[in-house]
Amino acid sequence: MNVLTFRNEDDFAQTGANLIASLLQSSPKAVLGLATGSSPLGVYGKLAEMHRKGMVSFAKATTFNLDEYVGLPADHPQSYRSFMNEHLFRHIDIGLSRTHVPRGDAADLAAECSAYDRMLEEEGPVDLQLLGIGSNGHIGFNEPDASLTSGTHVVKLLPETREANARFFERPEDVPHQAVTMGIGGILKARQIVLLVRGEAKAEAVKNALQGPITTQCPASLLQSHPNVVVLLDEGAAKWIR
Ligand code: F6R
Repeated sequence: MNVLTFRNEDDFAQTGANLIASLLQSSPKAVLGLATGSSPLGVYGKLAEMHRKGMVSFAKATTFNLDEYVGLPADHPQSYRSFMNEHLFRHIDIGLSRTHVPRGDAADLAAECSAYDRMLEEEGPVDLQLLGIGSNGHIGFNEPDASLTSGTHVVKLLPETREANARFFERPEDVPHQAVTMGIGGILKARQIVLLVRGEAKAEAVKNALQGPITTQCPASLLQSHPNVVVLLDEGAAKWIR
């Protein structure tokens, strides 16, 4: 793994954005795997700025998001589809039909998961997968467990994940209990993985993921088995990394 630590938020975000922009410059039809949450926000801001300045185009790119809350329609303000539209897609030149986010309100969620995996199979592999990490070591919404699932599936969110994400909702009880997430197998199929982590609250998860044993109790530790992972950390997140 290539682990880089940044003192400055701006350099952190610019480095993440540059990885995506240079991929798109050499491969305009690249397939990007995207994440939501606070970790990639700065990167999306930089990409929007680079696009405004004519430095990067997404016109031929395709995107697949990692996950979506079960029960929220796409136009719900807290859905991950809304997040992506708001923080990235409306600022760049990508047709929304080339952007994929699982439907958390699908009547048949099992069919939605299989259809998502089929699309990934047909349009993939993902060239660059952005990831954040939960303080419990989850990636996507693959929560720590005795076993992990390879394909896209419905997952029950752990209390700590619902608690961490309550900041986006009016009331803590509004946080959905389940999500649709790409599985670990789907994530690891990406050609390159870029893990973005900010803040001391994630320092222990980062240490377990990068330096601990490979275990389903820390899903991010499976990244150690991938040949091309870049990890961008701020100083807080890098606290326990030597
Ligand atoms: C989001 C996702 C999650 C987050 C993780 C960290 O699409 O897949 O794994 O990346 O929960 O969230 P933040 O960045 O908000 O701390």
